[in-house]
This record gives sequence, C-alpha cells and structure tokens, in this order.
Amino acid sequence: DRLEVNWGRGSHGTVSADGQVISLSLDRNSGSGFRSRDTYLYARIDLQIKLAPGNSAGTVTTCYFLSEGSWANHDEIDLEFLGNSTGEPYTLHTNVYINGTGSKEQQFHLWFDPTADFHTYSIVWTPLHLLLWNAEDWATQGGRVKTDWSLAPFVAQYRNFTATTSSPGAGGGYYDQELDATAQQAMKWARDKYMVYNYCADSARFPYGSPPECYMP
Ligand SMILES: *[C@@H]1O[C@H](CO)[C@@H](O)[C@H](O)[C@H]1NC(C)=O
Ligand SMILES: *[C@@H]1O[C@H](CO)[C@@H](O)[C@H](O)[C@H]1NC(C)=O
Ligand SMILES: *[C@@H]1O[C@H](CO)[C@@H](O)[C@H](O)[C@H]1NC(C)=O
Repeated sequence: DRLEVNWGRGSHGTVSADGQVISLSLDRNSGSGFRSRDTYLYARIDLQIKLAPGNSAGTVTTCYFLSEGSWANHDEIDLEFLGNSTGEPYTLHTNVYINGTGSKEQQFHLWFDPTADFHTYSIVWTPLHLLLWNAEDWATQGGRVKTDWSLAPFVAQYRNFTATTSSPGAGGGYYDQELDATAQQAMKWARDKYMVYNYCADSARFPYGSPPECYMP
C-alpha cells in the first residue's frame, strides 16, 4: 500500500476493514500518524480529513510535506488544525520551512465545521507525512485551555489520499500546474475574510521590516 501507519500502529492508528479510512487517535499515552511511502519531487496532494468533534482543545491534527536530507536544512510545508473548546472554531495554522528555518506562520478560522464531515485539503511539496499530536501548551489560546483527557481518545479520520503528478521520474514525480483563476479567487476570498494572523503583518515581530517574500506579488 502507498500509505503506512508509522506511529501508534494497531493501538492508536487504525485502518478500516475496507481499507478506505485511516483513523488517528490521541490519548494520554500516545498520538499516532501515517505517512506516504512514496516520495515526490513535485506533486499536488489532496486528502479528505474529518477532525475530532466536541472539546478538542490542545489537540493538533496535521498534514505536512517534508523534504529528505538533514533536519538542519530541511524544507517543510505544514497544515495544522488546532483544536478548540466546544463551539469555538478550529484554527488552521500554516507554516513553511526553508533550509531548516520556519517563522512564516499564517492562521485562518474556518468557515465550515471541519468535524461535521470530510473536507478535502490540498498542498504541494515533497514528501508527505501526517500526524496527530498533542501540543496543549501552545495550541489552545496560548496554553490557557488545557486538554480534557477525560474526553480521550480524540479521533481524526483521513481518506482518499490522492497524489497528482504530471510525469513520474527518478526521485519522484513532477507537477507544475498553477491554480486556475477560480481557485486563485477562492484563495483570495479566504485570505481576505478568514485570515486571523499573518507573519507578514506582524510588525512587533519584524520591527525592521517584513521578510522579503512578503513584498512579492
Ligand atoms: C478558539 O476560539 C477562540 C474564540 O473564538 C479564538 O479566539 C481562538 O483563536 C481559538 N483558538 C484556536 C487554537 O483555535
Ligand atoms: C542553508 O543553511 C546552511 C546552514 O545550515 C547554509 O550554509 C546554506 O548556505 C543554506 N543554503 C541556502 C540555499 O540558503
Ligand atoms: C478522491 O479525491 C479526488 C481528488 O481530490 C476526487 O477527485 C475524488 O472525487 C475523490 N473521491 C471520493 C470518493 O471522494
């Protein structure tokens, strides 16, 4: 199979009998994760995720692409869903690491309930790992709301992992398709309406000017 549960297999990370849905569970003892066995040079990844419902404060459900090679010089693209108290919105936290350095955080509140159904999330990078882990100290309102472990296990479900490449090749496939106009408009709409943090606009953090990519069109 193209996916393997590589953390908490059997106990916390399980695959449905029909092989279609991977459930990742978190309790006091362990989190869980799965990853793609394939690596990609460039690819579009689409994945359907249904997040843990109810009081999920302190949990983090993630989907990330990680480059091979040394950790000190790695590249990474992160989507992290920060859990919240019942009735409060999950925050989608994104970051990009280049050559080992991150600090490019953006955050969005979601305009739909990500726990009510599966939604498709997509990113482009190489290669892919997925994890659900506990980060109660920083994830929920700066650590003020702690995970309520009496509600464990917290379970997120994943299905229909799809990697799209235009041409396979040594060391992974290639993909260079730009977002079309409709997708670009949707992206702008979400950024305008639902972005609640943007490192580029954080002048307290960058008193001498935002990083150079912030000025690119
Ligand atoms: C939790 O909800 C509060 C209130 O709406 C919001 O301000 C906060 O950003 C949310 N925190 C996370 C981690 O999603
Ligand atoms: C990446 O970081 C290393 C230091 O860890 C540095 O020597 C190297 O020049 C950097 N590479 C690029 C492309 O910036
Ligand atoms: C699986 O994902 C692909 C790519 O996002 C999508 O085209 C397809 O409709 C999905 N299949 C199901 C059963 O949801």
